[in-house]
Amino acid sequence: MYISGIGRTKFGVLSKSLVELAYESMFNAINDSPLNISDIDAIFVSNFLGGPLNSQLHLNSVIASLLPGLNIPIVRVETACASSSVALNQAIYSLSKFSNVMVVGVEKMNGTHLISTTDAISMASDNELDSKNGLIFPAAYALIAQQYMNKYGVSHETLEQISYLNHKNANLNPLAHFYHKEVSLQTIRDSPVVATPFNLFDCSPISDGAVSVIVSNKRMSDRDVRILSSEISTDCISLTQREDLTSFKATKIAAKKAYENSGIGPKDIDVLEVHDCFTINELIALEDLGICNPGKAFELVETGDLTLKGSVPTNIDGGLKANGHPIGATGLAQIFEVATQLRQEAGKRQIESPEIGLTHNIGGVGGTTGVTIMGA
Ligand code: COA
Repeated sequence: MYISGIGRTKFGVLSKSLVELAYESMFNAINDSPLNISDIDAIFVSNFLGGPLNSQLHLNSVIASLLPGLNIPIVRVETACASSSVALNQAIYSLSKFSNVMVVGVEKMNGTHLISTTDAISMASDNELDSKNGLIFPAAYALIAQQYMNKYGVSHETLEQISYLNHKNANLNPLAHFYHKEVSLQTIRDSPVVATPFNLFDCSPISDGAVSVIVSNKRMSDRDVRILSSEISTDCISLTQREDLTSFKATKIAAKKAYENSGIGPKDIDVLEVHDCFTINELIALEDLGICNPGKAFELVETGDLTLKGSVPTNIDGGLKANGHPIGATGLAQIFEVATQLRQEAGKRQIESPEIGLTHNIGGVGGTTGVTIMGA
C-alpha cells in the first residue's frame, strides 16, 4: 500500500469555511498525485467538531456535494483528536476492495467563543466522570504533567525547551499556525498560566485547517511512500479508570503491533511525528513508543537528539504545539510531514536521507491511539 498524493491548507486562525478548507486540501492532494478525481473509489472524512461548532453534520454528503456526479461511498470517522489516523487506517483496510481511496481531515475551530470551543473539545472526555468535574483538556493533561514531573523529577524547564524547539521548527514551515512567530525561551517562561504546571506555550493552539491524503493499492509514481503498518488501539476514556497517568497503554499496544507488523523497531525510525497537544505529551510519547526508557525522554531534549540534525528528529513541522491542532486534520498533518520528509521535499526543514518515519496520534486523553509507520 502506498501514499500516492498529499495536500493540505495552511493551519491557523483562518477566514475560510469548513467546506472551503476541505475542498482546498482535496484539490491539492489530487494535484500532487498522478490521479484524477474520477480515479478515487471512496472517501473517508475525518472531523470532530462539525456538529457543535459549525452546526454541520452529515459531512460525507457535504463532501459528495463538492464532487458532482461521482456518487462514490463516503464515510465520516470520528475518534476525537485521533479521527484522521483512524480514518486513514480504515481507508487502508478498504484497499482490499478499492484501488485509490482519499482521506480528508478537516476542522474549523475558530469563529466561536473560547468557552464554547473548550466545551466542545471536552466532549472527547468522559462527561460524567471527568469533564463535569472540571477536567477540561488543559486541566486533565496538567494533572498528568504533575504526576509525571513528580515521579521522574522533571522540571518545567524541559517543557519550555520542547515548546521552544517546536516553535523553532514551525518557523521553517510556511503552512504552520505559528510560522513567522519568533519565540524566545523567556517569552515561553513568562507566558500566562493556563493550568499548573502549564502556561500558554505548553498548549497547542485552536487551529483551523485541512489535510487530504490518497492511499493506493499499487505504486503510482516514484514519489509514492510505502505504508508499512497502521495500527489503532484504545483504552478506557476516564482518567479515573487508568492504572497509570504517566504513560498511555493505547500507545504502547498500537506501537508494539505496528513494530511487529512492519519488522521495524524504534531504533530504525529516522523521522518522528508525535502528538504533543500539551508539551508533556511529547515526553510520554517518546517513552511509550520505545524511543527511550520511561522517565528518560528529558535526556533526548537536553542532548538535542530531537532537533532537525539530531538522532531522532521529532515534530519537524512544528508539532501540534506550533504547526497547529485542527483536531480532525491533525493525524493526517503528521502523515503529510513524514511523507514530505521521506520524499525529500521538505525544503529548509529537510532532514538528511530519511528511510523510515512514524506518526503517533492520540484521541482524547489517551482513549485512542493511531500509529503509522512509513518507508521511502
Ligand atoms: N501557544 C502559543 N500562543 C498562543 C496559543 C498557544 N497555544 N494560543 C493562543 N496564542 C497566542 C495568540 O496567537 C495570540 O497572540 P498575539 O496576541 O500575538 O496575536 C495570543 O496568544 C492570544 O490568543 P487567544 O486566541 O486570545 O488565546 P486564548 O487565551 O483564547 O487561548 C488557550 C489560549 C491556551 C486557552 C487555547 O489555545 C487552548 O485552549 N488550547 C488548548 C486546545 C485544546 O485543548 N486542544 C485539544 C488538545 S487534546
